[in-house]
Parts: sequence; C-alpha cells; structure tokens
Amino acid sequence: MKESIQILILLQIFIQLIASTCLDGWIEIPEENTCIQMSTADLAHLQALRDCQTKAASLVKITDAFMNAAVAVESMTFVNGRLTLIGVEKMSNGEWAYSDGTPLRYTKWKSGEPNNGYACTAIDPRTALWQTVNCTQLMPYVCGKQDNDAPCDLDWLYSVDTNFCYYLKNFTATDGQHWDLFNFTQAEGECLASTYNLASLTTAGNGDPCNYGQAWIGLSYYKQSELYAWTDNTFVDYIGLPVLEATTNYDYTVMNDVTCNKGWMYRPTVQLAARFVCKKKPSA
Ligand SMILES: *[C@@H]1O[C@H](CO)[C@@H](O)[C@H](O)[C@H]1NC(C)=O
Ligand SMILES: *[C@@H]1O[C@H](CO)[C@@H](O)[C@H](O)[C@H]1NC(C)=O
Ligand SMILES: *[C@@H]1O[C@H](CO)[C@@H](O)[C@H](O)[C@H]1NC(C)=O
Repeated sequence: MKESIQILILLQIFIQLIASTCLDGWIEIPEENTCIQMSTADLAHLQALRDCQTKAASLVKITDAFMNAAVAVESMTFVNGRLTLIGVEKMSNGEWAYSDGTPLRYTKWKSGEPNNGYACTAIDPRTALWQTVNCTQLMPYVCGKQDNDAPCDLDWLYSVDTNFCYYLKNFTATDGQHWDLFNFTQAEGECLASTYNLASLTTAGNGDPCNYGQAWIGLSYYKQSELYAWTDNTFVDYIGLPVLEATTNYDYTVMNDVTCNKGWMYRPTVQLAARFVCKKKPSA
C-alpha cells in the first residue's frame, strides 16, 4: 500500500513539480522557496511592514526577474493592477535596500527611478516596474517569507505520504540540439551525485519523445534470481503496469505524459532515456 501511494506521488511529479509547502492563505512562488501573501486592506508602509512582521514575514523581498513577475501577477489578480508596496526602501544612510536591511540583489526600476523624493517602493503590476512612493500613502502590499519549512531542496518535491523528496531530471540538451540521454547506470550515478544541468530546452529532440522521454526509476528485475529490487533497497510491494514477462534482466522507466501515456516500461540497462527520477531523504 505504501509503495502504491509512493508511485502515485511519483507520477504526479510529471504533472506538477511544485511542492507547495506554504501555509494556507500564502502563495508559493515556484522554485523560489518563497511564500507570498497579498494584503486585504491598504496601509501605509510602516503599518504594512508591521502587519507582515506579525505573520513572521516582511514586505516581499524580490530577488530575481521570475519573482518580480510572480509578484506582479498576484498583484494584478488581487488588487486590480493598483500600485503595490514591496520590501524595498531607502535606508537612513541613503542607500536603497530590502526592508530587512540586506542589499538589493535585483532591481526593476522604471526609468528615472529611484527618484529620491520618496523612500518607499511600489511595483506597478501592469508593467512589473518599480517606482518610489510616499511612505505615508495607503496602498496594497505584499508580504513575503522564506519557505523555511520546505523539507526538500529547491526543485525537489516532498511527499508527506512517503516522507521522501523526489526530483524529476527533465529534458536537458547540453548541445542545444539533442536531449542528453542516460542509461540506467548513469541515471543512478547522477542521482547519487545530485548534480544537474537544469537548462531544459523544448526545441531539442532525438526522435520519438514517447520513447526517449521515458524517465528511469530505481527498479530492476534480475532474471537469474527472479527478483525485483529498488536501488535504495526498499521493499518491492508494488509494480506498475504493464507487468514484465521477463526473459532477461531489466530496469524500469515510467512515463505518463498526456500525449504518450505508457505507464511503466522495462528496458535493458544499456538503453537511453532523457529523464529520470531521483529520491532522497528530506533534509529537515
Ligand atoms: C507624503 O505625504 C504626506 C501626506 O500627504 C505629506 O505630508 C508628506 O510631505 C509627503 N512626503 C513626501 C516626502 O513628499
Ligand atoms: C519538462 O520539460 C518539458 C519540455 O521542456 C516541459 O514541457 C515540461 O513542463 C517539463 N516538466 C516539468 C515537470 O518541469
Ligand atoms: C552506461 O553509459 C556509460 C557511459 O556511456 C558506459 O560507460 C556504461 O558502460 C553504460 N552502462 C551500461 C550498463 O550500459
């Protein structure tokens, strides 16, 4: 039973690789380890910051373009495109910094900004550009906090049911033209080393995606002993369809992309696949 839950979870990885561990009422920014929350009332900067602090957060700390876009989208959705306070302000030394005092790692100022007349910052969700605003002006705001509770590394999916972290190594193409392909042994090695090139490209290919798009999982069948085994030695109590009519040793892949729903497949160790799924214990 436990394994079958694990497999369901595993299959979900193909649909959605977003591990939402944010508390209810907070929105996870995918792959940023950050949870954000839009205000429901308009406040001046100081009150807004206090409100965030009572929620163990701060005004949102935007550290890259992806997060900036995500904040703009939420702001567009929740406050109708009105200017929205973010956690960027002019410190007493005259430097612009995040509200927690750390230096800015990313900026998206509108041209002519920061205009030093004002000390607070709002994002214009229509353009995703920042502009300075009067700190006493009442406006919507966004709180943000690190998702410290995330038990898995960035990009890994946590399963409450199995208490393991899962990672789908998706299509990558080092040469920009063909998917990087792995045999079973290489995939296992990559999982153990946990080093990935995450630059996935949609344009690359090596023929039939329903064939090479298979993802290795850690299940092997040993013909001689007629045994199934997971590479991490966990007990084999579930095997997905189709079931093997074994003539030799095999390793397993899964594939449930909508366009080619093939379920589980057994393939010789030497065969190549563009994807694989890794599993490891949570860090927390
Ligand atoms: C901000 O607005 C308040 C109230 O309208 C005003 O008194 C104050 O001078 C403004 N601050 C700046 C820096 O313009
Ligand atoms: C894997 O890559 C494909 C092609 O780039 C993409 O369509 C798909 O959404 C990706 N899957 C995940 C879970 O990231
Ligand atoms: C897997 O690929 C590696 C690198 O090409 C190769 O050295 C190894 O022999 C292959 N293993 C199997 C079982 O095919």
